[in-house]
Amino acid sequence: MTAPLQLAASPEDTLYKRIGPEVLHDLVTRFYGHVAQHPDLIPIFPADLSLTARKQEAFLSGFLGGPPLYHQEFGHPRLRARHLPFEITPTRARAWLACMNTAIHETPDLAPDAAAELFAALSRTAAAMVNTPEPA
Ligand code: HEM
Repeated sequence: MTAPLQLAASPEDTLYKRIGPEVLHDLVTRFYGHVAQHPDLIPIFPADLSLTARKQEAFLSGFLGGPPLYHQEFGHPRLRARHLPFEITPTRARAWLACMNTAIHETPDLAPDAAAELFAALSRTAAAMVNTPEPA
């Protein structure tokens, strides 16, 4: 008897499916819990992060290959343009990623390989959001 064929990642094998909507929701909730307490991020985020979290979850759904919920509800994300009103320095990008890294490690249902791919993709996007040099 031959072993079943192990298919490599197919278009159906999205990061969204591997993570799953419930785990994604938990991750985003934990992430903004950390953002709300990070001294480098507090100055640029609203005090009430509930809408921000809802938008982020909708965005990540499509970003990871799942339903394009952000597009459906809010239109094209124009991510870099939407971040231009906020001074995003390299320090703030690192702070954002540190909050995400902590949230990832606090989410045990996230498989290590999916976690690593997610963090790599977010690191690239975070780098693209930097729009302000470090203050002298
Ligand atoms: C590099 C560090 C980043 C900083 C400091 C940052 C900061 C912010 C701030 C201040 C807002 C506005 C919050 C509000 O008024 O509700 C925002 C919104 C948002 N950010 Fe970021 N962000 C960063 C990276 C990212 C990355 C990497 C992504 C996507 C993977 C992302 C996705 C979003 C989305 C979807 C919104 C909501 C946009 C909207 O208002 O419709 N951000 N971010």
